[in-house]
Amino acid sequence: DIDKKVEDLLSKMTLDEKIGQLNQYTARWEMTGPAPAGSSEQQLLDEIKSGKVGSMLNVTGADATMKAQKLAVENTRLGIPLIFGYDVIHGYKTMFPIPLATAASWDPSAAELSAHVAAVETAASGVHWTFAPMVDISRDARWGRVMEGAGEDTYLGEKMAAAQVRGFQGNDLNSDNTIAACAKHFAAYGFAEAGRDYNTVDISEYTLQNVVLPPFKAAVDAGVATLMNSFNVIGGVPSTANPHLLRDMLKDGWGFEGFVVSDWNSIGEIKNHGVAPDLKEAARLAMNAGSDMDMEGYAYVPYLKELVEEGLVDEALIDDAARRVLRVKFELGLFDDPYKYSKLDEKGLVMNAENLAAAREVAKKSIVLLKNEAGLLPLKKEGQKIAVIGDLADDKDSPLGSWRAQAITGSAVSLLEGVENAVTDKSSVVFEQGPVFVANDPVFTQHLKYNETDPSGIDKAVELAKKMDVVVMALGENCFQTGEGRSQTDITLKGYQQQLLEAVYAVNKNVVVVLMNGRPLVIDWMAEHVPAIVEAWHLGSEAGNAIADVLFGDYNPSGKLPMSFPRSVGQCPIYYNHFSTGRADDTGTVFWSHYTDESNTPLYPFGYGLSYTTFDYSDLKLSANEITGDQKLKVSVSVKNIGGVEGEEVVQLYVQDLYGSIARPVKELKGFEKIALKAGESKTVEFEISAADLAFFGADKTWKAEAGDFNLWVGTNSQTGLKGQFKLK
Ligand code: IFM
Repeated sequence: DIDKKVEDLLSKMTLDEKIGQLNQYTARWEMTGPAPAGSSEQQLLDEIKSGKVGSMLNVTGADATMKAQKLAVENTRLGIPLIFGYDVIHGYKTMFPIPLATAASWDPSAAELSAHVAAVETAASGVHWTFAPMVDISRDARWGRVMEGAGEDTYLGEKMAAAQVRGFQGNDLNSDNTIAACAKHFAAYGFAEAGRDYNTVDISEYTLQNVVLPPFKAAVDAGVATLMNSFNVIGGVPSTANPHLLRDMLKDGWGFEGFVVSDWNSIGEIKNHGVAPDLKEAARLAMNAGSDMDMEGYAYVPYLKELVEEGLVDEALIDDAARRVLRVKFELGLFDDPYKYSKLDEKGLVMNAENLAAAREVAKKSIVLLKNEAGLLPLKKEGQKIAVIGDLADDKDSPLGSWRAQAITGSAVSLLEGVENAVTDKSSVVFEQGPVFVANDPVFTQHLKYNETDPSGIDKAVELAKKMDVVVMALGENCFQTGEGRSQTDITLKGYQQQLLEAVYAVNKNVVVVLMNGRPLVIDWMAEHVPAIVEAWHLGSEAGNAIADVLFGDYNPSGKLPMSFPRSVGQCPIYYNHFSTGRADDTGTVFWSHYTDESNTPLYPFGYGLSYTTFDYSDLKLSANEITGDQKLKVSVSVKNIGGVEGEEVVQLYVQDLYGSIARPVKELKGFEKIALKAGESKTVEFEISAADLAFFGADKTWKAEAGDFNLWVGTNSQTGLKGQFKLK
């Protein structure tokens, strides 16, 4: 039915009108990329009216979207509605944890809920389409955008990608509480050399196929409506101009029927990569490759018609691109009522109590307990004098995170507020800020300046710590230290945070560090000395309450790291599923693969996270020693809560293919399940493995599992577990 409607409309359209559908402009009043050159707001309005614009980004709110939509619907010949896109990455106004944190929940239903609430709020604000989820795998904590993804692992990334697509899109795009999603950035953006944003990517076909692409495939299989190009080249080919990626693989291979939007001027940047001499050639390359919509590149409207007339672009490709865009507009119901999203109950639906409660739920599940010696945690709500220390501790803004859509500045529950809300008597909690952390306002035109000249505040914090039973200290990153354009070579604590920590610890050993950050940090001193560390990321609107839920034991922490924490930045990129290398073992000489000044292992491995209780793994059983290609291996393990409190555990299954026609990773995650166990309770967890799960993209450029021996481990993180073996025949 929709196909027919699309074809009918397409048959009425001129070439200019089709090209107009492929053009996306930002609203001038807000930007998420470099300022558009030259053109004025009046010109933008005129172009919408004359049918040269198919989509806008950064128009938000019922009134603004209604106004912009009217320009298109009431003035253009065919009245085709605009589709409004926006970066709703972890919430629209109610902020949920940053996606890296949500991935730490290892709970796809939490990721789905986060995306669903974001969709409800976004739709109610007139916006049809989010540029999320970011499904880029990254192994490099220096890259600022790790906060936006699901971390280093492909399997976890697939589950989180699909969950977010389900959350945003639901079962029906044409409903009031769903929006179109966009899997980005296609592809390999997370592999920027040295973790520097927008840098060159040069990865093998092996890594592309086995590591990078599966989460995109999972998003496509979940029905994602759109994809976004990445800025980078791979092997010298800009992704925006890569027909192998966009046509052979995505559209022809995977059968993707939605459309591909460029990243901000990524068509123009084909010139900067030195692959097109001018914008016209860039437009030709991008359209021929399969980039359907031009975001802020000013390339398609000026040049596509000319290129068609000169025979350099086949008109059928323009039809195909326009068809894809129109189909999504039909699916969203925009032709039935172009204004429907602008007529919802924006006030009632956005940032209401129910949405905030959901944000708190997801936030508490995203917290990872990294260390808890001598049972310092949970804290007591009564009878304990608690010092809350650190500039981030009363910060009501930073927990909202980077990429915060319409978040209200300063609207998060701070850690201090959360602790005060939780205790019986507020006077048992005393706050000291310590040295100011960031010395300027975080704005796009400037980098953050950390206070590195004024240590005042340390003395007062030390005096307070001396008098109190326990110190809760917030340390880590301001939220604008991470995100797009915020790569860093130094991922230790900035400003006077380390000095503050050491000075306070010198007078009171009962220190609980609450880390707030958007990437793995180097925290070696802290890990060695401080008895308790709680990884609390940037958790969104309800951050402080969620952290207090964990600190006081109302919620038993259950998160696990989605990225390895390095011991030093020199280890980056560091990830658990590496190859073995030819010289993996210490042979007693210097001639093996190692550093002379640091161990090879991470400080905290992928999949790591503690609980207030203890889980005992036993009774690993495999249904067979051998399986053939069409059989399934059943793996079961018994997990018992042997501690005193109820808790949740993420049971993880890893597999190693011992020998292959090419090198195989030392282990790979192949399954996980999050289970809840009462004190003393045990459960049997079952996994199934088939040949398809063992398949990899090999040197012969096909996917297949190879016969041979496999190890498997079932355990609590990527470095420990009960071990089994089996053979694939
Ligand atoms: O969606 C983003 C993308 O991730 C980075 N460049 C700008 C786009 C639109 O804001």
